[in-house]
Amino acid sequence: MQGYFISFEGPDGSGKSTQMKLIKEFLHEKGFDLVITREPGGTRISEKIREIILDNTHTEMDYIAEALLYAASRAQHVSQVIIPALREGKVVICDRFVDSSLVYQGVGRGLGACVKEINDIAIRGCMPDITFLFKIAPEESKKRIQCEDRLEMEEMDYHKKVYKGYLQLEKEYPDRIKGINASRSVEEIHKEIKGYLEIMLGECLFTKKKEDDVK
Ligand code: ADP
Ligand code: TYD
Repeated sequence: MQGYFISFEGPDGSGKSTQMKLIKEFLHEKGFDLVITREPGGTRISEKIREIILDNTHTEMDYIAEALLYAASRAQHVSQVIIPALREGKVVICDRFVDSSLVYQGVGRGLGACVKEINDIAIRGCMPDITFLFKIAPEESKKRIQCEDRLEMEEMDYHKKVYKGYLQLEKEYPDRIKGINASRSVEEIHKEIKGYLEIMLGECLFTKKKEDDVK
């Protein structure tokens, strides 16, 4: 694929959306063709699934049903938005992707390996080129959240398990997942992410230019 896929991960309230906005402006100014999207969501159908998942009144939702809903929302998003954008050479920036399911459903809900299996079907081999993992203890990030959906209202024990899951994933995929100390100021975090992208997208552009020269 021609494009470049970036995902943002981390606990609720860790500052992902804030940094995505800044990176959007930064890459836009550099002239990149961007697609900014999120999970669950990013398509008409996936946003409807999001509403079902996050509804505060759906307290009876079965964990497997929940995992399948996230995967269904992702399957639609990958096929309708992410793969076409990458094929057109765009930079896709996604607020959460499959790592969220691996840790929230796989570790937090304790569903384990089946979460990867169902998501392998949903993503069809499409994985981020780089993932920024916002590292901040859930006790700290929770203080930043004002209004809470069904999942943000979960017990702290659940959020702690999720966070441990993220730290484990970071160890498993050190080339792709870049841990970011998210307790710092907005400016410091932005500077670090920008630094990574300058290197990665610089290389990406250089490789493409070489390919074009060969053609
Ligand atoms: P997320 O998208 O991960 O849920 P947000 O970007 O929405 O997180 O941030 C959650 C809250 O924390 C917002 O009120 C935001 O203004 C604030 N915030 C974001 N980054 C920081 C930071 N580095 N330090 C302190 N507060 C922050
Ligand atoms: P989001 O709106 O990104 O929350 P926040 O901005 O607070 O980080 O995501 C909604 C919730 O869905 C969040 O609690 C994480 C959860 N989630 C999963 O449990 N599994 C998934 O696969 C995804 C994408 C999100």
